[in-house]
Amino acid sequence: MAFKYVEVVSLAKIELIDVWYKDILKGINLRVNEGVVALVGPNGAGKTTILKVMVKALKPDRGSVVIPEKVGSSWQNPYYSFTKPTVLEEFLEYLGSVEEVEEFLGSYGLKHLLNRYTFKLSVGQARLVSILLAVVWGPEALVIDEPTNGLSLRERYAVSRLLRSIKIPVVMASHDLDFILMTSDYVYVVNDGHIVCEGNTLDVFYSDVLQHIGFPEPEVVRVGKELGLRLRSVDEVKS
Ligand SMILES: Nc1ncnc2c1ncn2[C@@H]1O[C@H](COP(=O)(O)OP(=O)(O)OP(=O)(O)O)[C@@H](O)[C@H]1O
Ligand SMILES: [Mg+2]
Repeated sequence: MAFKYVEVVSLAKIELIDVWYKDILKGINLRVNEGVVALVGPNGAGKTTILKVMVKALKPDRGSVVIPEKVGSSWQNPYYSFTKPTVLEEFLEYLGSVEEVEEFLGSYGLKHLLNRYTFKLSVGQARLVSILLAVVWGPEALVIDEPTNGLSLRERYAVSRLLRSIKIPVVMASHDLDFILMTSDYVYVVNDGHIVCEGNTLDVFYSDVLQHIGFPEPEVVRVGKELGLRLRSVDEVKS
């Protein structure tokens, strides 16, 4: 079967059906309706390639892809999102006035970044601004590659809160198990171009699938198991 972008309205916001790309993606099946969904897997597994398919930067060789028209993105290097000298100018591209930009940034606790030069932002600040720029564009879904690279603990919490507050589906690729645990509702485990496991974040983390592909057990899961605890829902971890 050749590759096609599906035009019909799908129940899922994003759906990849038996997607193949070179020898990198080998029959990927994935559905995202809502919430924050994580792709986790070792280096070279194909996570970034999947995200690139979702923004139409790569065209698969085979399979079907359902994606909304507007998919926002933030890539591993957040500075690639910037085209203007200052944060204010970046947001004025999308919002009508300085006051609106101020209010928008203020609602995420980032008003103090208004007049900063984008190239002088810290990695964490740049990551937050890059994600907000993708959001303010008004996309129907968001993809984010490695959102916690180079971030402090405080910035990781800020990014986690931000992703959880966004009202559109978010797909992120990450190695950061603790971050995934506090941020994602659902996880796809990617290994060697295949989805080897999928499920609610806690179900996947409490299974041993991640250890089979070389990840250490997250501390909170290890301690939980030692105590004989089985967390009931992801909300308990988030709160
Ligand atoms: N443009 C490209 N042309 C050919 N091969 C590529 C290209 N981009 C990536 N690859 C290869 O595809 C495989 C998957 O890469 P990808 O970047 O999707 O992995 P990843 O899971 O995101 O890894 P990481 O965790 O290191 O970011 C790797 O073997 C990589 O070398
Ligand atoms: Mg990658």
